[in-house]
Amino acid sequence: QDVRLWGGRFAGGPAEALAKLSASVHFDWRLAPYDIAGSRAHARVLHKAGLLTADELQRMIAGLDRLEADVADGTFTGTVADEDVHTALERGLLERLGPELGGKLRAGRSRNDQVATLFRMYLRDHARIIGGLIADLQQALVGLAEAHPDVAMPGRTHLQHAQPVLFAHHVLAHVQALGRDAERLRQWDERTAVSPYGSGALAGSSLGLDPQAVAAELGFEHGSAANSIDGTASRDFVAEFAFITAMIGIDLSRIAEEVIIWNTKEFCFVTLDDAYSTGSSIMPQKKNPDIAELARGKSGRLIGNLTGLLATLKALPLAYNRDLQEDKEPVFDSCDTLEVLLPAFTGMMATLTVNRERMEELAPAGFSLATDVAEWLVKQGVPFRVAHEVAGECVKVCETNGIELDELTDEQFAAISPHLTPEVRSVLNVAGALAARNGRGGTAPSAVAAQLAEVKADLAAQ
Ligand code: ARG
Repeated sequence: QDVRLWGGRFAGGPAEALAKLSASVHFDWRLAPYDIAGSRAHARVLHKAGLLTADELQRMIAGLDRLEADVADGTFTGTVADEDVHTALERGLLERLGPELGGKLRAGRSRNDQVATLFRMYLRDHARIIGGLIADLQQALVGLAEAHPDVAMPGRTHLQHAQPVLFAHHVLAHVQALGRDAERLRQWDERTAVSPYGSGALAGSSLGLDPQAVAAELGFEHGSAANSIDGTASRDFVAEFAFITAMIGIDLSRIAEEVIIWNTKEFCFVTLDDAYSTGSSIMPQKKNPDIAELARGKSGRLIGNLTGLLATLKALPLAYNRDLQEDKEPVFDSCDTLEVLLPAFTGMMATLTVNRERMEELAPAGFSLATDVAEWLVKQGVPFRVAHEVAGECVKVCETNGIELDELTDEQFAAISPHLTPEVRSVLNVAGALAARNGRGGTAPSAVAAQLAEVKADLAAQ
């Protein structure tokens, strides 16, 4: 039996090489449940338009239900000869209902509006799944921050010691970034809640179908496409999804890189749980941060999925072109990648132990309190330009003598500047430096506690 949906004007079947090139069932099969849901909605509008009797509709829906069950338990699958998931499912329906009734469903629709709709449905479901996994990671990070409300660490710029910060503050910075990623997914979903079904091949349908009814049945809150050409040809929703997933990968890679560094002998800030680390086949002592490294590596793959897709879309004329079949594999891969990566990443972050002593030992090192000296001078009425110079001089003297700022003697301070009275020592400690930065968004324990409360309320509201 010729399964093609377009055999009529052709003398023979396609060359084997063409069939192999053209086939997409091996990757678009995952759209099958959505295709069947779309078919049900389409059958109902065919009935509303008087193109299926009530009895035909009932038998059609029953046939689709049976097909759905057979797809779910693997009794029915697509083959290379089917070309794509839509063709395969039509064959399945014909096999179940016979050509008379089975052959009626295709009226008024095209694989072009079908695939554009199903792809949106699939990605919307996975946006929700990925959003949930991000929330889990945020929760794990919030837990980490909450469990260490008062641990200080060296804050860095240029990877150099800059100013002490609270570990919780640092961790919450990542929670903020992930929160924007989750928000991007929600906003994308809002924009993607428009159904192309009814656009036909590109021009709409002459059969008096009701695209709004299909949109409502398939859960598209914003109704059907306002323009059938745009409905079938636009893929910016795919590109945007690929960007968001790439951005998530990048945000994970930034956490990952820190975990990798923190987990080294030299830093020794964290220890990974055995269940979330791997060993070496030759070096018995090794315990490697593979999850973090895979996260860092997979971010490259997620970026590649985005750039490949953008290259496919560039300069494509309207409306549908077969190039668009290349839109699915990259983002399917992005979904698969994140859905495997995020749970492992969350487990790693939820179980790592923090080496408080080591972080606190290093928090004031590298002259990270020099800014506090300068700001203390400002409070004494010294212009900041001068204060910056004086504090810099202190660092120079320390470096020459191999000591830290709080080891300068009163005489050394006084020699550097008459403004540096012994009272300057009040700011030469980490707790004071932290507590002083108590404005909104600052690293003071009080400000971080307020931030934590806000973050928790946001997470709970989702
Ligand atoms: N499988 C195709 C895709 O994923 C849809 C089929 C459209 N084919 C066609 N000849 N118009 O884009």
